[in-house]
Amino acid sequence: VRPGPSSIIIFGASGDLTFRKLIPSIFALFKKELLPKQFYLLGVARTKYTDEEYRNEIKRWLLNENEALNSVLSFIERIFYISGNYDDDSLYKLLQEKLNSLDKMFETQQNHIFYLATPPSVYLEIIRRLGQFELTKENSGGYSRVIIEKPFGSNLETAIELDKELHKYLKESQVYRIDHYLGKETVQNIMMLRFANIVFEPIWNYKYIDNVQITVAETLGIEHRAGYFEQAGLLRDMFQNHMIQLLTLVAMEPPASLEDSSVRDEKTKLLKSIRMYDTYEIDKYFVRGQYVRGTVNGKEVPGYREERNVNPNSYVETFVAGKFLIDNWRWSGVPFYLRAGKRLKKKISEIAIIFKEVPHSIFFKNNVELEQNVLILNIQPDEGFSLKIQAKQPGSKLCLNTLTMDFKYNEFFNFKGPDAYERLLLDAMVGDQTLFVRSDAMELAWKLLTPILNKWEQDKEKGLLFYEAGSWGPKEANELIARDGREWRDLEAEGEIEDG
Ligand code: BG6
Repeated sequence: VRPGPSSIIIFGASGDLTFRKLIPSIFALFKKELLPKQFYLLGVARTKYTDEEYRNEIKRWLLNENEALNSVLSFIERIFYISGNYDDDSLYKLLQEKLNSLDKMFETQQNHIFYLATPPSVYLEIIRRLGQFELTKENSGGYSRVIIEKPFGSNLETAIELDKELHKYLKESQVYRIDHYLGKETVQNIMMLRFANIVFEPIWNYKYIDNVQITVAETLGIEHRAGYFEQAGLLRDMFQNHMIQLLTLVAMEPPASLEDSSVRDEKTKLLKSIRMYDTYEIDKYFVRGQYVRGTVNGKEVPGYREERNVNPNSYVETFVAGKFLIDNWRWSGVPFYLRAGKRLKKKISEIAIIFKEVPHSIFFKNNVELEQNVLILNIQPDEGFSLKIQAKQPGSKLCLNTLTMDFKYNEFFNFKGPDAYERLLLDAMVGDQTLFVRSDAMELAWKLLTPILNKWEQDKEKGLLFYEAGSWGPKEANELIARDGREWRDLEAEGEIEDG
């Protein structure tokens, strides 16, 4: 659906996120004719550019990405720029004037989407000023929406505080907390798979599922984001948002409809059922690690403490594995094992649903166990899903083997889906909040993780484990799951053909 008249105002317009993600996604929508006919983009940042200079920066960036000159040139005609300090009233005065004139020029009916792509430390400053300058008011004709990047606060207390301030100027229906994982095709497909098919839902519970494993492994280190990462650490960076969201989508009850409130109500309900551990249990259920020098994809890479701008004694975690339990009827006794880390062996994100063993095996004697069925939702890099089942190996002997039924998006549809940001920006323009995180869910995720953060902060280096870059994380992560008589799925072989 092509949205109605709209404008996007990006704060932090000269930053990394804007160039790497936002501009390419908005440009992709432009090329697909999914941007409104009445549309403009206004960049706001501290760096001084004229409209022309900013357009040239964008042009250079897009041409570098091999985009066609003609479409780039017509795209940048809709781009404007103003600069100033975020805490300076004159910036907002200028913004007001600029929006007035651009709204007239592009007939955008005063529909504004403010995108906060700045460091989080200035979120409140910007929102307060937008409020004071009446730019968050919706009764002036158009809508006013604010997209906020993570991190939303740094623990439960600061997140609540930020939310409270925010709601002085904005209604919840105006706030779009972005989690780009929710815009990924395969993540959206979790709901389609579960609720548009009848075969999965009847077995989607403790009776048939033994455990669920969610892995988000990255080969990248922290790149140029030491400043941010030293403050955040992996639990805040990946678990508070992406990992918890994935868990929620797998585990929530079927919503009554696809309406945003319906889906978000179910997520909240599920989040409330995740078990909170007592402080003394945290070390038993969570493992945190930090990478040391090693080899990733054949290249030697420095350890975390050797990265630029990282404190050489930093105890910030770059890997986390944890066991989550959900206290409700559906999931009673089913552990959800989650792990995510930087500088691991392979880039792979997947959700594995591991089913129970058959109740009685007629095939093997001597306690030889049949392999369990596994349903894998591949989030990246090979988006799709696969189902591992047992089948007879051809031949006169009775021999079973694991067969993988594999579905790959790219092969089947012969088409690469949109980038997550494309989808989410489009949703924000049509006013659909389903794939954005509601206030209560954000708070519940912090509530769950803050005791862990506090414990780690208290213990500092005690309990921090080290793992070699290019491994699968500290061996204690294996022990965490081995204590339950289980093991992590072997992801090394993923993508290779099963022999059999
Ligand atoms: C971001 C994190 O939200 O997600 C990064 O801040 C991480 O640290 C990234 O690298 C992973 O996203 P993707 O889409 O590459 O899996």
